[in-house]
Amino acid sequence: MRVGVLTGGGDCPGLNAAIRAIVRKGIDHHGHAIVGFRDGWRGPLENLHEELTIESTRGILPRGGTILGTSRTNPFKRENGVEMVRESMEALHLDGIIAIGGEDTLGVAARLNDEHDLAVLGVPKTIDNDLSATEMTFGFDTALQVATEAIDRLHTTAESHHRVMVVEVMGRHAGWIALQSGLAGGGDVILIPERPFDIDDVCQLIRRRHSRGRFFSIVVTAEGAVPKEGTMEAADGERDEFGHVRLGGIGVRLEHEIEQRTGFETRAVVLGHIQRGGTPTAYDRVLATRFGVAAIDAAHAGQWGMMPALRCGRIELVSLQEAVAELRTVPPEEFAVAAPFLG
Ligand code: F6P
Repeated sequence: MRVGVLTGGGDCPGLNAAIRAIVRKGIDHHGHAIVGFRDGWRGPLENLHEELTIESTRGILPRGGTILGTSRTNPFKRENGVEMVRESMEALHLDGIIAIGGEDTLGVAARLNDEHDLAVLGVPKTIDNDLSATEMTFGFDTALQVATEAIDRLHTTAESHHRVMVVEVMGRHAGWIALQSGLAGGGDVILIPERPFDIDDVCQLIRRRHSRGRFFSIVVTAEGAVPKEGTMEAADGERDEFGHVRLGGIGVRLEHEIEQRTGFETRAVVLGHIQRGGTPTAYDRVLATRFGVAAIDAAHAGQWGMMPALRCGRIELVSLQEAVAELRTVPPEEFAVAAPFLG
């Protein structure tokens, strides 16, 4: 068989581990040839590809990012995009493509398979951990580790200066990174998109803490956290090819509001892409490897339209349709765990 592989959407630690697993098992065990497309779905659209070999993928396991490059290209937004993907697959004599991505990249994969009968498989990755079909995506554990370490570091400077530190973390419309780094790092306020916040309540929590003799506070906010209607001005930004708004900026807005309302000196820190960079944790390397192996095995068995998912600790194949049907957001009972530690 000849199998294509691409990485699309935001990069994350573990992508190279997944590529390596597909190449190693695909070539050594199954005897397939693996073709790597450059820059996500832009690769098949613009004929950007290279043969991947065991040699060319040596030493990439601990490397962050993706050796294939990535982009937020949507073939459904390009004229004849679907036909160009099909032609590219035919020209390269590919039996199918393994698309490694999040909600958007996998959404394209699902449509190509379902509506256009193209042989495509998915592998779930994203630091946001927001795919409902899998208990975990790789990339999340590393981002969580980075965010937690940052919160630990901010504690000492916040305490020394008697300040409120607002930490803005990623996660798009899911609050997993904020909730879990807030829990692991001992955040005093945790704001997530799933629970619109009232700035008065936030200030109240901080005041209460100060009144109990703790003269510094850590506010962990997800980039997608939104104020309750009418409590604080909401923001809007530019959109990508998938219609997603570019998030970011809530941390700085909270900094101003908190300082103004409480009189406590406040600073905002935006962790941004630091959460996506660098070497993956052991957990992410292992999960990416397990997903990669399961994906090339599924390709070998001709199980297109599927995606390996983590369920009760085991890797199972689920349909791509199911994988992109809904986002996995933070349920109230998960947030409730954090409640006793706030303020
Ligand atoms: O989906 C991963 C993610 O890091 C989100 O958490 C964030 O909102 C977005 O990507 C940032 O995208 P970009 O790298 O295009 O700025």
